[in-house]
Amino acid sequence: MKQLITTPIYYVNDVPHIGHAYTTIIADMLKKHKWLRGDEVFLLTGTDEHGQKIEQAAKAKGKPPKAYTDEVSAVFRSLWDMMGIDYDHFIRTTDESHKQTIVQVFERLCANGDVYLGEYEGDYCVSCESFFLNVDSGICPDCAGSKPLSKIKEESYFFALSKYEKRLLEWYASSEDVILPKYRKNEVVRFVESGLQDLSISRTSFEWGIALPKHKGAQKQHIAYVWLDALFNYMSAFGLYQNPESLQVDSSSPAHLGEKMAYWECATHIVGKDILRFHAVYWPAFLMSLGLPLPKHIYAHGWWMRDGQKMSKSLGNVVDPRAFTKAYGAEVLRYYLLRETPFGQDGDFSQKLLCERINSELANDLGNLLHRFLAMCAKYAPQKGINSFTLENQGVAEFVVEHYGDEVKTQCKILDEINSGLIESMQIKAYIEAIWKLLHLGNAMIAKYEPWNLFKNGKSVELNAILNFVGYTLLKVANALYPIMPQTASTIAMAFGQGITPASYIYHIKQNKMFHLPLEVRVIPPLFQKLDSMLIPEAPLESTFEKVDSSDCGKEAGLALVSIEDFSKLDIRVGEVLEAEPVPKSSKLLRLKIDLGESEPRVVLSGIAQYYTPKQLISTQVCVIANLKPAKIMGQFSYGMILASKDDESLSLVRIDGKRKNGSRIS
Ligand code: ME8
Ligand code: MG
Repeated sequence: MKQLITTPIYYVNDVPHIGHAYTTIIADMLKKHKWLRGDEVFLLTGTDEHGQKIEQAAKAKGKPPKAYTDEVSAVFRSLWDMMGIDYDHFIRTTDESHKQTIVQVFERLCANGDVYLGEYEGDYCVSCESFFLNVDSGICPDCAGSKPLSKIKEESYFFALSKYEKRLLEWYASSEDVILPKYRKNEVVRFVESGLQDLSISRTSFEWGIALPKHKGAQKQHIAYVWLDALFNYMSAFGLYQNPESLQVDSSSPAHLGEKMAYWECATHIVGKDILRFHAVYWPAFLMSLGLPLPKHIYAHGWWMRDGQKMSKSLGNVVDPRAFTKAYGAEVLRYYLLRETPFGQDGDFSQKLLCERINSELANDLGNLLHRFLAMCAKYAPQKGINSFTLENQGVAEFVVEHYGDEVKTQCKILDEINSGLIESMQIKAYIEAIWKLLHLGNAMIAKYEPWNLFKNGKSVELNAILNFVGYTLLKVANALYPIMPQTASTIAMAFGQGITPASYIYHIKQNKMFHLPLEVRVIPPLFQKLDSMLIPEAPLESTFEKVDSSDCGKEAGLALVSIEDFSKLDIRVGEVLEAEPVPKSSKLLRLKIDLGESEPRVVLSGIAQYYTPKQLISTQVCVIANLKPAKIMGQFSYGMILASKDDESLSLVRIDGKRKNGSRIS
């Protein structure tokens, strides 16, 4: 069957981090698994390049938006190339063909009577490009890192989302695995059941986006809301509404959509939980309105965190996938990310655990079994070429069944598990663990039957049978492991002179066969080296400070001692005061806007009005704790704290000695 697998198209406001790599690895893994099981699979990825957030990011870098997006989009693409991601198309929302689709989508939504002109008045989160109504706190309820909401009021087209409530609920109920994990699906159902508001689908207060045709008395030039623009990448990549015959507004039935749309017979979206609502509510509603096919599956994974917080640039805790791929290789990273946490749940990224897994699971359980096996073949099996050996298969099948019945039974049970649809139900960790059961079985066979003693005692039939059993077990491991670690799996198969193909997968995994062919074995270099230490220095504060005997220092101040790790959790930065004004009805407070090198200035309230006038502050640099939880003071929110020192007489701000770039960290 033709199948489509998609990743989100990533925002180019910043370079990729490990979370982006995780989603893309899952999609690539799924592609490889489906390919082995006989499907024709198309993997789509790309970049999301329009909208206010990108416009601001480009401005902050002092570049025209197109030049800026060209640059960052290329970084994403080259990362996927470096990691060996087998994508079939890399789409950019700035592609002309994509823009053509979006204009057509808008025209057709209008023609179907699902669009009306109005005015949006409410909150907007630029960080997640999302509208919110009635949020008292002024903070985005969805974004990690407490992003401030902006108030907007502008002319806008609305999509009649509320019309689709009932059909959406029917769709969720139509199949068990439309949305996985189940608990996420339940959240979506509850969200829709609580009532849908019509959705604003255009913006008029900035320019970086796809211009929409004027309709129904619009006063302003509208650009497509970035999520309307972004979601349709999944179809514009296949030419939706781009061929001249389908350009009449009334020909929106799938039959007119062209041959390439056949991948939409079975489409699976892989997304992070942060963007499930867009994919599970807005997207299918748009498709319903246009009479287009719906996705079959939406799978939402959890977040990679560090020290319990979502990775985000503003918290300074991101893990760079490029550095990890360079240091450890893409294979190891795939293994770690896919094995560490159950799909759907959040995980804490730890380089230390990654190293432990390399040593115990990859070097020991897997690498060692292969190399012990190859070494034994070299010692005990007939030589064929310079470095190659043959294991005869005559009578082995019968002998194994008769003498190693328990092991055969165990192996069948593990194969049943591997074949039980674990990947289809996104139980990836359990799938990998099942493969490891095969490795444990192989290792246990060797420990139990001691081939070296069989050799010493001249038991050549037993010896040959055990080697065959372990050899075929390794081939099963290789075929099952391919979606997780394609290079490693192919290298293992290569030691047997084999490749990994849908045919080999049917033989070794689906049908669980063995012993039909004599095994030709060749010795290859070790798969994995054990590591003595981490390959990437951890955050400087953690690694460069010597541990000191702290038993008697610092006691005088009367405060508890903190470790350097605790201190490093504080994000203290230098920033320039752009605006300062008194807070009404307060004699103490000033409201400052501070440039911390972010896309928008921070609002910080500070009780320094008796000591500094706004004029004394504007255009000077101050020191700010940037990751303090937002606090409400006199009805206003403050997103950080300015450092100062006070004694009985007065107060002075903490200033740095010499100008630094705004946003520079203090450590
Ligand atoms: O949302 N852990 O783009 P985006 C795990 N352009 N995954 C993470 C992650 C983390 N800490 N951080 C990000 C957008 N991701 C839109 C999508 S699709 C039509 C438009 C992954 O750059 C995860 O898949 O913010 C998340 O959903 C996605 O990156 C968000 O990427
Ligand atoms: Mg995001």
